[in-house]
Amino acid sequence: MVHEKFSPLGVRSQFSILNEEQWVYLDSAATSQKPESVLSEVNAYYRSNNANVHRGVYQLSEAATALYEGSRKKIASFLGGCLAEEIIFTRGTTESINLVAYSWCEQNLKEGDEILLTIAEHHSNIVPWQLMAKRFGAKLRYIPLTDQYRLDLDTAKEMFNNKTKIFACAHVSNVLGVIHPLKDLLSLAKEVGALTVVDGAQAVPHFSIDVLDLDCDFYTFSGHKMFAPTGIGVLYGKKSILDRMPPYQGGGDMIATVTTEGSTWNALPCKFEAGTPNISGAIGLAAAIDFMGTFDRKEALEHDVWLGRLFYEGIKNRKGMKVFYDGGNDWVGVVTFHHELIHPHDMAAIADSERVCLRAGHHCAQPLMAYLGVPATSRVSPFIYNTEQDIERALRCMDKAEKLLL
Ligand code: ALA
Repeated sequence: MVHEKFSPLGVRSQFSILNEEQWVYLDSAATSQKPESVLSEVNAYYRSNNANVHRGVYQLSEAATALYEGSRKKIASFLGGCLAEEIIFTRGTTESINLVAYSWCEQNLKEGDEILLTIAEHHSNIVPWQLMAKRFGAKLRYIPLTDQYRLDLDTAKEMFNNKTKIFACAHVSNVLGVIHPLKDLLSLAKEVGALTVVDGAQAVPHFSIDVLDLDCDFYTFSGHKMFAPTGIGVLYGKKSILDRMPPYQGGGDMIATVTTEGSTWNALPCKFEAGTPNISGAIGLAAAIDFMGTFDRKEALEHDVWLGRLFYEGIKNRKGMKVFYDGGNDWVGVVTFHHELIHPHDMAAIADSERVCLRAGHHCAQPLMAYLGVPATSRVSPFIYNTEQDIERALRCMDKAEKLLL
């Protein structure tokens, strides 16, 4: 594919919310803004092709089915060339992880087994496993961090053992922005025969993923953090494992036969897609992938990291400020910080008064907050449509907060 050279201003022009409404949007780790091409593809589907999929024997339904299944094929290729039937559409990362937890654990988890997570996980990669641990009598363990906010690989090596049945880990931390050494961790997990589940929600928006090269069992992500609509996400799973797993939800489309006595299941991927799916979301996700193919993704990541560093340099020496980043390169530009005298909500409210959007709170990672010893933090997460001027405006908000509150 021939890419245009990455240009933040060229990209930004495709996001009307940033141009017309003049927002400085620095919360893309929570959700990204959506480009015109995604909005118009979703709109075109509803205007010209709206029908249910897999059901109609008429042309309109066939057109909708072709768009929906075309999206699945595009995602399979986007993830490095896995099989289309290994792509399950879900509501997002959270539902993808719940699907694996409920379905796989039912047949495989038992008392005394261990589920190994990291202390830097989002709640969506903790709570489903807590539910399963409670249900089956398994034990949860958490890999700690080093003082540089990296996963402690030496300790991790000691934690994998023959009781480890599941290893579930974010590819990139939503709080620290750190890219975890996934291949090393996956190889430790494989040595003990653990199932491997990767939360890619914060990785897929920033760099290319090849699930075949990673050789993980499951990889999950959400469309809305990578320019697609909310309510659509992906579970990639190895066919050999998905084939053996029972359905997660029952309903239309996931069955082969139904009698009053019982049912048999449809083949992959439909077995895991009960009910009318999010057709427009899948179409929007395909458009988002096309959009990401119009620029050089490596240059785009360099841009995000450059902006993150500008912000980090602008705050790191401020009195009372603690920044949870050590200046390293294995990072996507997310800066999380805590001021000992300014509450994150006050910081975010002052920024909001200048139309600057920051995230404040626990970022759905309360165990990590407790580990870091803070109740909440502020977070800036730049993305491809942000500019140097956006960072300058965010830094001026820090100045204003200090002037008003210190
Ligand atoms: N997971 C999202 C975040 O980190 C909501 O903000």
